[in-house]
Amino acid sequence: MNKSIVLIVEDDPLQRRLIRGNLESEGFVVTDAADQASAVAEMRRLPAEIALVDYKLGRETGLDVIRLLLKENPALAPIMITAFASVETAVEAIKAGAYDYIVKPIDFKKLLLIIDRALERHRLRAEVQSLRETLVDKFSARNFVSASPAMEAVSRLMSKASQSDANVLITGETGTGKDLVARSIHFASRRAKGPFLAVNIPSLPESLIESELFGAEKGAFTGAGERKTGKFEAAGGGTLLLDEIGDLPLHLQVKLLRFLQDREFSRLGSTAVLRADVRVLAATNRDLEKAVSEGAFRADLFYRLDVIRIALPPLRERREDIPPLVDHFLRKYALREKKAVHGISEEALDMLVRHPYPGNVRELENAVERAVVFCENDMILSEDLPRSLTVRSEADSPFPGKAVSLEEKVKRLEIREIREALEASGGVKSAAARKLGITERMLSYKVKIYGLKPKSPEAGNPV
Ligand SMILES: Nc1ncnc2c1ncn2[C@@H]1O[C@H](COP(=O)(O)OP(=O)(O)O)[C@@H](O)[C@H]1O
Ligand SMILES: [Mg+2]
Repeated sequence: MNKSIVLIVEDDPLQRRLIRGNLESEGFVVTDAADQASAVAEMRRLPAEIALVDYKLGRETGLDVIRLLLKENPALAPIMITAFASVETAVEAIKAGAYDYIVKPIDFKKLLLIIDRALERHRLRAEVQSLRETLVDKFSARNFVSASPAMEAVSRLMSKASQSDANVLITGETGTGKDLVARSIHFASRRAKGPFLAVNIPSLPESLIESELFGAEKGAFTGAGERKTGKFEAAGGGTLLLDEIGDLPLHLQVKLLRFLQDREFSRLGSTAVLRADVRVLAATNRDLEKAVSEGAFRADLFYRLDVIRIALPPLRERREDIPPLVDHFLRKYALREKKAVHGISEEALDMLVRHPYPGNVRELENAVERAVVFCENDMILSEDLPRSLTVRSEADSPFPGKAVSLEEKVKRLEIREIREALEASGGVKSAAARKLGITERMLSYKVKIYGLKPKSPEAGNPV
């Protein structure tokens, strides 16, 4: 049976009763109103999909009612009822936003057909709308948790950045949310319907960065069998995130600078000048100012990128964000796992709030995800948390248990530092080595002698 809701706005009580009776016998849920004010009130009480609105409502006109109802519920399909068919009335009704109109005396067979078509369109629209919203919603402000003053300031900067087309430099340790910030800016900007692409520079072999970004002509280098489209071309009309921009080799910094100044670039192996309408967002976990002073990063490029700076503080410096983030991730993973996990014990939350999070929000998210998966109650308990959170404190300084030699202490400390650096850099050795201030070779050596398997941060448990 049909359960769609129809609102009748008609000042003649006899007409109202007649229409209501007819629609109710067809299985519709019917509500009604005699004037503008009560029509709006009815719509708020029970959001109808269809409104049948009489053209003449005493001293008010149905056109105004239609406009007001559409303001309340933009997905509504209003149908105008008129006393006589005239082109003018029809045009007026459609202009006011009516889906169709019907002439009195009402032919109910015809009315049902009109309602059926309107409902069909209503459903299609709702479907398209919801598909689009899923994507936009994923990166909407509602999914960006910000409770601390520092993150509220970040939120405000993000909305400024979405309203502009300026370059943005996003800084912060790994896992602080740089990617999420970039995507959120894109999906709230006028480029939202265009593509969002991201390139993680250190993940590319140096010899391929240029062709990946700017494209390459056929045969431009060994292995380039076909012409290759670069990310700048592919991101046309949209946004390109250059992740870990600090790792961009100097000669490509020049090429990027040219693009940022003139919107022009050439494919590798060609001198033809190409243009692209791309907004560039850059992210880095390095101190770019320091890189500039050391000559590893061009100052002119730095200033070009640093128009709007969004600096994400490490999670340990904004612990107020932890409880709302826990809540956010708990809902997300309970929904995905289809589990009725509704909360977290005080003890477990306390542990989460105290942890230092070398891997920042990503580490917290992984911990909550794992806890939801392991949870056997309707609430997360401390034993559901990864051991890295519960055990780390013991492995920390006072070295519990027996007396430990200095050598052993140094070794443990070293292992911990290496593990954290690897975790914080998502297992990317070059980045971890940089963090630790040692060469990658040295890091590989230590990883080997200590038998530390570089693991993905998703793994949860400590090695
Ligand atoms: N403020 C936040 N609100 C909600 N989720 C967040 C927030 N910050 C980070 N996250 C989540 O943490 C994870 C890591 O964030 P990401 O943007 O990939 O960090 P980064 O790029 O800095 O390494 C992602 O799953 C992201 O959605
Ligand atoms: Mg990232």
